[in-house]
Amino acid sequence: MLEGQDFTFDSHIQMFNVRPALISDAHSIAVVHVESKSTYSGLLPASALSKFTVERRESSWTEMLTTPEPHAVTLVGCNAQQEVVGFASGGAERTGQLGCDGELHAIYLLPAVQRQGLGTLLVERFIHELRSRGFRSMAVWVLGANPYRKFYEALGGQFIAEKIIERGGEAFVEIAYGWDDLSKFKV
Ligand SMILES: CC(C)(COP(=O)(O)OP(=O)(O)OC[C@H]1O[C@@H](n2cnc3c(N)ncnc32)[C@H](O)[C@@H]1OP(=O)(O)O)[C@@H](O)C(=O)NCCC(=O)NCCS
Repeated sequence: MLEGQDFTFDSHIQMFNVRPALISDAHSIAVVHVESKSTYSGLLPASALSKFTVERRESSWTEMLTTPEPHAVTLVGCNAQQEVVGFASGGAERTGQLGCDGELHAIYLLPAVQRQGLGTLLVERFIHELRSRGFRSMAVWVLGANPYRKFYEALGGQFIAEKIIERGGEAFVEIAYGWDDLSKFKV
């Protein structure tokens, strides 16, 4: 990892950069997380989404950033004003059953900055960080009904698994995409 070095991307609309998250970013990450979860209205029951508050997310992000899991990676994407408008986090694959050693646990952008290349920039930098920690492959889980799953397909993710999860008393399909060789990724 090139400590402190920002990855910068000049979209047609604005300049973004990506850097490692700081503990002081916990509130901003929680705001992005909750606002971006609006993506799920209509996909998940309102009862499951209403539990998802900035206060709760800030508390768990503060804990995750203060005492990170071994090999954890959390990155933030910032706009030209250096405001946090997106984040990506992950580390080791959590089940040991997907044939991948690394996992992207979460990636979320504020709705206003979606589809301008920042998600791709975050994934590229995330993979760079995983590789620098010795990981060779990566998985990510996404709701089967989430239209944004096309993002992972555009990045070359291959369907590798599916499972049923329960949210708000209802069952939903989640799909895993995998990248078996991160060295093929141009970063
Ligand atoms: C998913 C997300 C991280 C993608 O980041 P992004 O910056 O919007 O995506 P990019 O601009 O880098 O998109 C790269 C390519 O992915 C594909 N893509 C991205 N979003 C898409 C969508 N909603 N539908 C179809 N294709 C999509 C396109 O091929 C796109 O290239 P193009 O814009 O030139 O056509 C972001 O949109 C987001 O936070 N979405 C809401 C939260 C979410 O669903 N997160 C994933 C949970 S697992």
